[in-house]
Amino acid sequence: MLGLSPGFLARNRVAEVRMAEHTTFRIGGPAVLIELHCRADLREALPLAPRWLGKGANLLVGDAGPGRPVLRLGRDFGAIEELGRHEGRVRLRVGAAVDLAQLIRRCIDAGLGGLEGLAGVPATVGGALRMNAGTPQRWFCDAVERVECLLPGEEAPRWLERRALAASYRHGGLPAGALALGCELALTPDDPARLRAEAARLKAAKAAAQPLALPSAGCVFKNPAPDCPAGRLIDQLGLKGCRRGGAEVSRVHANFIVNPERRATAGDVVALIRHIRRRAWLERGVVLELEVEPWGCPDELAAHPRDLPEEP
Ligand code: EPU
Repeated sequence: MLGLSPGFLARNRVAEVRMAEHTTFRIGGPAVLIELHCRADLREALPLAPRWLGKGANLLVGDAGPGRPVLRLGRDFGAIEELGRHEGRVRLRVGAAVDLAQLIRRCIDAGLGGLEGLAGVPATVGGALRMNAGTPQRWFCDAVERVECLLPGEEAPRWLERRALAASYRHGGLPAGALALGCELALTPDDPARLRAEAARLKAAKAAAQPLALPSAGCVFKNPAPDCPAGRLIDQLGLKGCRRGGAEVSRVHANFIVNPERRATAGDVVALIRHIRRRAWLERGVVLELEVEPWGCPDELAAHPRDLPEEP
């Protein structure tokens, strides 16, 4: 399959899937999904120019699929190792395939503070590095010392110091096209009970403010400014409950589009996004930019809203 060698196919898993089964939105057409378990096989997969899948929690995949093979890092990228203490902080090496929730649990149980502020954020470590996952108060990259990544055009991974990466809101600062393979974290010893209580508090706040029981890709738009959250803006425009096909602006948090009956298409979501972006621009002069990552979706998602066509 895809010209991959028999050895590659024996060591890794390659399957035809529907991306709807691999995204929290439960939307997305067909793709070839490669689960890359063996680090030595990375090189053979690179010429396929795959799209890199984490937990699928921040993706809008088109109805015809992503248009390219999809690759998810597996076994050899799933370890958590303690490297020792340095200047009162504990260093961990963590693979990109590690589930963020599992990592946070392990850190809390071991009395290591620094990630508890990300409790409830659905991601893998690779996705969290790429997106600088987090909340307005706490970003994943705050705890990172260095990142192992594969740069475009290179075959051998290299370590980049966090200081050299310009991490910012929803951007880990990795060069375009770079693939994060793992990272080293520096965490601070703390009381497990205090860390556990903080994580529980944040999760409860999220559960109260966000439609976590329904399929979605989390917040759809970046906040245009710290004092102008997209959710409040869309709410003020009266768009909660607005629908296109099976896609609905959440009645709980207006920056979520939900797929309540699991029948929304990517086309429905794109139409709803177009409507929201046009209204925000025409009525408030605000350009809403996508926070979710579109794969195999129309170019209009990146267009200026003044250039978006009116709906028929
Ligand atoms: N608000 C409304 N109506 C709404 C939603 C929000 O008026 O329908 C108001 C809230 O009352 C609040 C303000 O808007 O005054 C901000 O809302 P919230 O506290 O929910 O935070 P947010 O900026 O919308 C951000 C992240 C979330 C993260 C929360 C945790 C972005 C785009 N979103 O949401 O991240 O979970 O903070 O505090 O930065 C995600 O990335 O997918 C995501 C959900």
